[in-house]
Amino acid sequence: MQLSGKVESCWVANAPETHYPRYEQSDRCDVGIVGGGIVGLTSAWLLSKAGYAVTVLEARKIGQQVTGRSTAKITAQHSLIYSHLIETLGLERARLYGEANHCGVELIVALATQLDIACDLERKNAYAYTHEPRRMTAIEAEADAARSLGFDARVVAPAPLPFATAGALEFTHQAQFNPAQYLVGLAAAIIANGGRIFENTRVEDVERGSNRWRVKAGRHRLDTEAVVVATNVAMWTPSELDVTLRPRCHTAMAFRATDSRAVDGVFIDIDQPSHSIRMGRDREGPLLIVLGPSFTTGNDGDVARRFLDLEAWVRANIPAGDVVWRWVNEDYDSPDRVPFAGELSRKAPGMYVATGFNGWGISNGAAAAMLIADQIQDIDNPWRSLYNPSRRVPKDFNRGGDTQSIVRALEDIKPGAGGVIEHGKQKIAVWRDTQGNPHALSASCTHMGCTVTWNNADLTWDCPCHGSMFTREGQVIHGPAAEALKPARIPGNDD
Ligand SMILES: Cc1cc2nc3c(=O)[nH]c(=O)nc-3n(C[C@H](O)[C@H](O)[C@H](O)COP(=O)(O)OP(=O)(O)OC[C@H]3O[C@@H](n4cnc5c(N)ncnc54)[C@H](O)[C@@H]3O)c2cc1C
Ligand code: FES
Repeated sequence: MQLSGKVESCWVANAPETHYPRYEQSDRCDVGIVGGGIVGLTSAWLLSKAGYAVTVLEARKIGQQVTGRSTAKITAQHSLIYSHLIETLGLERARLYGEANHCGVELIVALATQLDIACDLERKNAYAYTHEPRRMTAIEAEADAARSLGFDARVVAPAPLPFATAGALEFTHQAQFNPAQYLVGLAAAIIANGGRIFENTRVEDVERGSNRWRVKAGRHRLDTEAVVVATNVAMWTPSELDVTLRPRCHTAMAFRATDSRAVDGVFIDIDQPSHSIRMGRDREGPLLIVLGPSFTTGNDGDVARRFLDLEAWVRANIPAGDVVWRWVNEDYDSPDRVPFAGELSRKAPGMYVATGFNGWGISNGAAAAMLIADQIQDIDNPWRSLYNPSRRVPKDFNRGGDTQSIVRALEDIKPGAGGVIEHGKQKIAVWRDTQGNPHALSASCTHMGCTVTWNNADLTWDCPCHGSMFTREGQVIHGPAAEALKPARIPGNDD
């Protein structure tokens, strides 16, 4: 199936390249930070500014993972969140969530401005809209809840969109940016503060020594007083957050804008199938960026169909030119819609995590970094109990899933496609290149052994249990797996 657009996030494709070295000599520092996304780099900037010797180890390239593949709305308006939080966690926790996210928004805007980072930062209003007149009561209740927490929130009807809606909740003075450009700029500022950054350095393990942490990457060690696990999905923690949270995936497309004013603001539909909409730009000019409904990573055997549906939805609703970019991205949902962030003080003192952002980790991620930086400096922070990463949550929130890619035989896999062949108890992940040559890997995810699913849009192997993603050649793109899929042979195939 031929899909339109280049396979890359429009943000990453238009950000300057970074060339930080690999980590090739064991060393020591005050704070080791694993991961160069919004959480890792915001923590690194805050701590380096405070005089700590920080070292960031990034498996791939700065800013190219979940943050660089998001819709990059910088907003404290997270669909219908505040009425839910007031009802489930009470007014005070809802207030803390609002405050943390407001501070996260303002920190990003302040850093982009003060550090003069060219990242297309713009103030925009944020809207949560509905097509359904009967859903306006939920919008009105959310506006009341948000106002009771101090937000400048109001109801508008209809939403300022080029298609029919019943109305929307509007938050003023939110923002949008190019997150990959922002993180590249932030990385430069961390270096200017004396911090160190290494790329193409995958951490394989983090261990507690007698009184320090040992971060292991290949043959080398980083010896640290504190370690920040900013890997999007929490790894190496004793709290099992990697299996507790549920991965959620989206398809995203950037179209050449035919009218750069068609959409003014950042928008999310409160109902399913939900779309998220904003404008942006690449080197060639303005783009319309639209995100499709969420699905559980690795639980859909036809992701390509989702791109076709998304394009059809856009063509029916918003003026747009050609598809320029398309990509898949994932984040993690938490059972109570609040992220887990901060020190794992009881079980792992000196280890800090931030995960479970529920698709709102730009503002929450910046807030989590502020909390972590405060905790490392022994500064009291009111968000500590809200984000407490050791709080009790239901263990059955993530019920896992199974591969969607079983085929009867090798012949069922066409050139350019992938599938999983069963041979006795063994499951083999096979993809064929465009010449038809088959390439085989073990289909067993190196995290906990679930069988991977072929993603027929991005041509990746995605794990239906906890969201690991691998290139078609088996290299890790996204954890919790830290090791590549193992090589395998196709029984009886001499190709
Ligand atoms: C489709 C989509 C759209 C979204 N849109 C928005 C939005 O508009 N607004 C919003 O607020 N939120 C949004 N989010 C959520 C938000 O993007 C994320 O929650 C946030 O970016 C997560 O940041 P992070 O730093 O945890 O992860 P990342 O940006 O992924 O950073 C983690 C880094 O750790 C590295 N890493 C992983 N494992 C290792 C290892 N073993 N060793 C070394 N490095 C490692 C990775 O390579 C990566 O660079 C969206 C999410 C999705 C899926
Ligand atoms: S991600 Fe956990 S088994 Fe694959």
